[in-house]
Amino acid sequence: MNTLKNKLSFSELSQGTGLKNALSMSRAKVISKVSASGIRGRGGAGFPVSVKWNLCGLAHSDRKFVVCNADEGEPGTFKDRVILDEYASLVFDGMTIAAYAVGASEGILYLRAEYVYLREKLEEALRRRRKDGLLGKQILGSNLNFDIHIFMGGGAYVCGEETALIESLEGKRGEPRNRPPFPIDMGYLNHPTVVNNVETLAWITCIFEKGASWFKEQGTEGSVGPKLFSVSGDCTKPGVYEFPLGISVLELLAQTGGENAKCVQVGGASGHLVPASEFCRHICFEDMATGGSVIIFGQNRKALDIAENFMEFFEDESCGQCTPCRDGNAKLLEGIRMLKNGACKKQRFTSLLNLAETMQLASRCGLGQSSPNIFLDVIKHFHTEFELTSDATPDADCRMGA
Ligand SMILES: Cc1cc2nc3c(=O)[nH]c(=O)nc-3n(C[C@H](O)[C@H](O)[C@H](O)COP(=O)(O)O)c2cc1C
Ligand code: SF4
Repeated sequence: MNTLKNKLSFSELSQGTGLKNALSMSRAKVISKVSASGIRGRGGAGFPVSVKWNLCGLAHSDRKFVVCNADEGEPGTFKDRVILDEYASLVFDGMTIAAYAVGASEGILYLRAEYVYLREKLEEALRRRRKDGLLGKQILGSNLNFDIHIFMGGGAYVCGEETALIESLEGKRGEPRNRPPFPIDMGYLNHPTVVNNVETLAWITCIFEKGASWFKEQGTEGSVGPKLFSVSGDCTKPGVYEFPLGISVLELLAQTGGENAKCVQVGGASGHLVPASEFCRHICFEDMATGGSVIIFGQNRKALDIAENFMEFFEDESCGQCTPCRDGNAKLLEGIRMLKNGACKKQRFTSLLNLAETMQLASRCGLGQSSPNIFLDVIKHFHTEFELTSDATPDADCRMGA
């Protein structure tokens, strides 16, 4: 299958120009250009890149790190894999620009365990960069000394969360840390660390070649620039697409052959299930944020099956550190199965709703804070697909906590 479905802006770039341009500026100018572009992180949370870099640049330390998050574990996401396969030099250039901006000398590409097949190709690209003076001492005649090495991921979804990723880099279990302190102050080995997504870093290189205004002209006021989307599911043209942020679900479906969809999951398992009545909504930070995963579901799909599938994933992937997530995902999964079997009493249903809200509020990291989304979305939009039993009905086999 040809994964790339439309022409990416990355294909229009000339080798190394963005990096050269950045290294010819002062560090302060690099950060102000990133700020002028308005770029927000492409990993999902949408944190402004210039703010992160500026804070890390201000942190006092003799050692700083730039980490590229290539864990890409969100179900339905595969655009970082395509970028690493076809445009790795843009990612390495972006990491080098970040290092220059914050004063880091060491870079780490945290590569998803399942992408091990890409490793040799990426190592070869790094060797070539060292030979060409794009890594090492005084890169391109500047005062920047910087090198990058690859670290293979731990194989768990939660390792994509930046503090769990750092724990994993340090050789520990991939468990999210309490914040503060944030990685920009105390990250890898307790040194200031910038963590950015693969796509974010590739766009940085693009901005230093095509300009901040080129980037800012696309998208919406609060979500500027183009974005890559990994589109899968019940559509005729699945693959990786570049669209401006702010595209409506309807427009995206038209472009990808998914017009007949019943609902669309925007943002992967941790995102939101959008019913057809809301296809006019926009994919951007002001409306529905996404790291890029779009899963299309056709008319024959059952909402509770989708929810069961995602909750099985979360139950499996919870790191188990905090109770709301460790126990909550298991209870929600159980509740979904009860709903599927027509064995969920009204009282139980109410307690599941309370549990979902508690998880959103009390879980330590984004996994447990967002895993109840699918349960709540199905309740909100697809309540006609199940019935609750009366509280007077005798208990079914599938009991909460049984
Ligand atoms: C459970 C979980 C998994 C995540 N997985 C990824 C991932 O695979 N790749 C990624 O870039 N960000 C992931 N993130 C977001 C990161 O914590 C972090 O916000 C991101 O790497 C920052 O980069 P950006 O600002 O360039 O988007 C994940 C977050 C959570 C809560
Ligand atoms: S929310 Fe879940 S994944 Fe995150 S720290 Fe708590 S148990 Fe671990």
